[in-house]
Amino acid sequence: MEISPLQKERLKYQPKLPGMLRNGISDICVREGEATQSVADQEKIRSLFPNTYGKKEITFQKGANTSASKKQVVGVILSGGQAPGGHNVISGLYDALKATNRENVLLGFKGGPSGLVDDDCVEFDDAFIDAYRNTGGFDIIGSGRTKIETPEQFKAATETAKKHGLTAVVIIGGDDSNTNAAVLAEYFAANHVGVQVIGCPKTIDGDLKNDDIECSFGFDTATKTYSELIGNIERDANSAKKYWHFVKVMGRSASHVALECALETQPNVCLIGEEVAEKKMSLSQIADQIADSVEARSKTEGNFGVVIIPEGIVEFVPEFGTLIREISEMLAGSKTEEFNALQDWAAKKEFIRKGLTAESYKVFDILPEAIQKQLFLERDPHGNVQVSLIESEKLFAELVKNKLDERKKAGTYKGSFKTQFHFFGYEGRCAFPSNFDADYCYSLGYNAFMLIQYGFNGYLSKVSNLSRPADEWVAGGMPITKMMNIERRNGEDKPVIRKALVELDGKPFKYFEAHRAEWAVKTCYTYPGAIQYYGPSDVCDLTTRTLALEKG
Ligand code: FBP
Repeated sequence: MEISPLQKERLKYQPKLPGMLRNGISDICVREGEATQSVADQEKIRSLFPNTYGKKEITFQKGANTSASKKQVVGVILSGGQAPGGHNVISGLYDALKATNRENVLLGFKGGPSGLVDDDCVEFDDAFIDAYRNTGGFDIIGSGRTKIETPEQFKAATETAKKHGLTAVVIIGGDDSNTNAAVLAEYFAANHVGVQVIGCPKTIDGDLKNDDIECSFGFDTATKTYSELIGNIERDANSAKKYWHFVKVMGRSASHVALECALETQPNVCLIGEEVAEKKMSLSQIADQIADSVEARSKTEGNFGVVIIPEGIVEFVPEFGTLIREISEMLAGSKTEEFNALQDWAAKKEFIRKGLTAESYKVFDILPEAIQKQLFLERDPHGNVQVSLIESEKLFAELVKNKLDERKKAGTYKGSFKTQFHFFGYEGRCAFPSNFDADYCYSLGYNAFMLIQYGFNGYLSKVSNLSRPADEWVAGGMPITKMMNIERRNGEDKPVIRKALVELDGKPFKYFEAHRAEWAVKTCYTYPGAIQYYGPSDVCDLTTRTLALEKG
């Protein structure tokens, strides 16, 4: 296979491990912490996870390895959306597993959790792993969003585990996938299958974080990739001075990606979904906020600018969020098939009119038809509306245009408003992992094997103190049930990992809030440029601004 010069160089990169994992496998021991409780709904979560609830947090430290020596056969699964660094989690896991015992086996289940159910796997060897070190993508075994939830799926997963003599499964995924990891861990424990399950925190969205998990992997590389592109667009806008660029960035729910990109690039406007929800802003108020910047800049800087819009924004607009929730309830169970079977849009609209409350139908009715239809595109197996398919950047540009037309009539605005649209999502999910993500992911994988070796089940691989250099990172594990609460999903109450939203009293948002009035009117763009893999440490080992502000 032909590979690029950068790929060749990156294959040689040796990721940095936390100091405490650098002394060799025989010199890693466990320090137990406190017993844990779930973040909410404790009694309910305890009753659903009787075998895995309430376990202790643990940290690894330098000391004689006291784990039982048995041959390990570990299965690894990549689950959900791609995130830079997934291959390094697998290579870290492989290296720790082989360093412990050359007879240990690592199997990769293909295409996500369905690989375990359908017994579709491959055994890794040195050459296989070596070809993927420090590369982006999940193509080593592919990914998928299947959820293991039916009795048949659990039975099939158990049969696969028994057939291969699996001793553990590592699930590399986001909040939904790690919720699934906790459920599988509990099932295996309750049924004495003898298979441990360990999760690894992945998602470019950055919303799998809490007091213990400082950030999910992939967020660093993805936001740096988008920020490079946004910086380039800002420079183009400032050169040509004729377009307003509406840039939507990924992030299914939370606005962490948008906020990080704003901190990196200082655009004129960046919407933050969590603020919109807190202030109960309507579509019209948001459009006015953007129009204010357009109008002010038309009088001083010119008719150009950059607006960043988080992918999940519409769910945070209270009137729109209610609409999406009602649609999810309306299409729960077999109703989706009934809806899909309707012949034309008029029949579907009538179905929608009858299924929604009058208030929600009013909101639905004012949307452009293209946006209305986007709300009914296929949902994922976890029941989420596919917000990435809603063209909110076009929706807001249209609403802003209407506002500016009104202002023109009123004589307050005389500028021109020409738009360009961008959606940065998939562009960042498979980039070569930054040094941070390459190191973090390798450490998560290496650490996941140590959790297996010490017999833990239903734990998330945890590496913290991430704003410091890697030799100061702290490795350990946290019970996944600690992060869970009960939420309404697809019309039912379910135990799920609580998503971390942008905190409006957190330092990253406060910094943004303190500067945005100036950015809205003046041209304060910053140009971060491309991710640097080689060179001075202060450009190539940079963490995100979010992490630096949160921990600094
Ligand atoms: P995960 O939560 O699985 O990491 O996926 C995140 C994400 O990249 C979102 O930002 C985006 O909305 C979604 O995946 C897109 O999903 P798909 O790859 O199925 O189109």
